[in-house]
Amino acid sequence: MLTQAQRAIITATVPILEQGGEALTRHFYQNLFRDHPEVLPYFNQAHQHSGEQQRALANGVLMYAKHIDQLDALGGLVSVIVNKHVALQIRAEHYPLVGASLLQAIREVLGEEVASDAVIDAWGAAYGQLAEILAGEEGRIYKEKAAAPGGWSGARDFIVQSKIVESAEITSFLMAPADGRPVLDFAPGQYIGVLATVDGVSMRRQYSLSAASNGQTYRISVKREQGGKVSNHFHDHVRAGDTVQLTPPSGDFVLQDGDKPLVLISGGVGITPTLAMLAAALRGKRPVHFIHAARHQGVHAFRQQIDELAARHPQLTRYYCYAEHAGAHDAPDAVGLLSKERLAQWLPASRDVDAYFLGPQPFMRAVKQYLRELGVPEQQTHHEFFGPAAALN
Ligand SMILES: Cc1cc2nc3c(=O)[nH]c(=O)nc-3n(C[C@H](O)[C@H](O)[C@H](O)COP(=O)(O)OP(=O)(O)OC[C@H]3O[C@@H](n4cnc5c(N)ncnc54)[C@H](O)[C@@H]3O)c2cc1C
Ligand code: HEM
Repeated sequence: MLTQAQRAIITATVPILEQGGEALTRHFYQNLFRDHPEVLPYFNQAHQHSGEQQRALANGVLMYAKHIDQLDALGGLVSVIVNKHVALQIRAEHYPLVGASLLQAIREVLGEEVASDAVIDAWGAAYGQLAEILAGEEGRIYKEKAAAPGGWSGARDFIVQSKIVESAEITSFLMAPADGRPVLDFAPGQYIGVLATVDGVSMRRQYSLSAASNGQTYRISVKREQGGKVSNHFHDHVRAGDTVQLTPPSGDFVLQDGDKPLVLISGGVGITPTLAMLAAALRGKRPVHFIHAARHQGVHAFRQQIDELAARHPQLTRYYCYAEHAGAHDAPDAVGLLSKERLAQWLPASRDVDAYFLGPQPFMRAVKQYLRELGVPEQQTHHEFFGPAAALN
């Protein structure tokens, strides 16, 4: 429990974090990887290189410091962190390692004068409090997932049943557990963790589940990223019959029950969680507007499946937008980037809808702004990032 004086110190540190949070977290990660190389496999080095993870952590720490007196206000952020940690299988014993590196970084970056013993004590107590919240919630979820039907803890072996090319860049992998037993159900929109060894290095990534939950198999659909380690490994080396290791489904970008019209907007490989959401929504009666943007037909995955669903389900209307017009046969509904005017035509007339969107960050920033300007209530829009969370405003 933090004392009043410690709370005051944390609050007073907010401006310093606002200015130098990323430098602090960069230094923190250098310390962590130097002193505890055993945690390296949990971290995606591309997110370190781009600075996205430093920004996400700095923002997390800042939000925490700002809300130290009203931790309930952190709700959404805690949920994103906990779900990501669960997919990565971060355990309570990791927290002291991270805590030690963080305190050391605060001391080294701020200097002895600012980072007095009292400041370090306050941050030590504050970190302990946050670690307790996160590790407590994560521990509860691990137990829940292990005890649920088809559930497990840690990594579980799955056999690749089939490998299906969906477009020039995206390939699906259908996987069933090696032990032949059922698998945990998941909520539409959730993702699984994948453990892979590439060139002798152990790595962890997350992939959205791209087909409805069926208790037997999981399907992921992986885009080949230029220079990407795990995606290229899957495309080039993982074949039907191979064993892969998965952690249980996780994630809070999930389709909420409701009867308002549903709008699913995706760009590129951001389509994957919306496929599971679409399958779930089509079991009910709500109208669904499925809007997908791709560069061109060659990289447009799942078009045939969506067209077939639209033909069978009158409640589903689909719209495709291609950045480039390739030829007479590609027949998108619009050419160019998804614009506000186009979106206005493709949304239901009433803007009282539930909207879910995902894609490259510039696409997400534009969609968020358009939805706001077109009158879709902010609390009815949902999004997720295929990487560390970032600001969209
Ligand atoms: C919740 C969630 C769901 C996701 N769902 C999906 C999904 O359904 N389908 C999907 O395809 N992806 C999905 N992703 C993304 C996925 O987890 C991986 O991030 C993606 O496949 C890239 O991983 P990789 O190992 O191939 O690339 P990485 O090795 O991580 O590299 C990514 C990029 O960074 C560059 N890079 C890597 N290291 C460095 C370096 N040191 N310096 C400079 N550049 C570098 C690479 O060249 C590449 O362009 C999801 C992510 C999240 C968080
Ligand atoms: C109080 C302590 C912690 C806080 C506030 C915190 C915060 C965060 C945040 C904000 C993210 C980004 C989430 C997202 O946007 O997807 C994240 C991801 C992550 N965290 Fe933590 N975390 C803490 C402890 C830990 C610990 C103990 C570990 C164990 C080593 C850990 C490992 C990771 C990893 C591996 C990622 C994903 C990084 C990536 O994508 O490369 N975290 N954490």
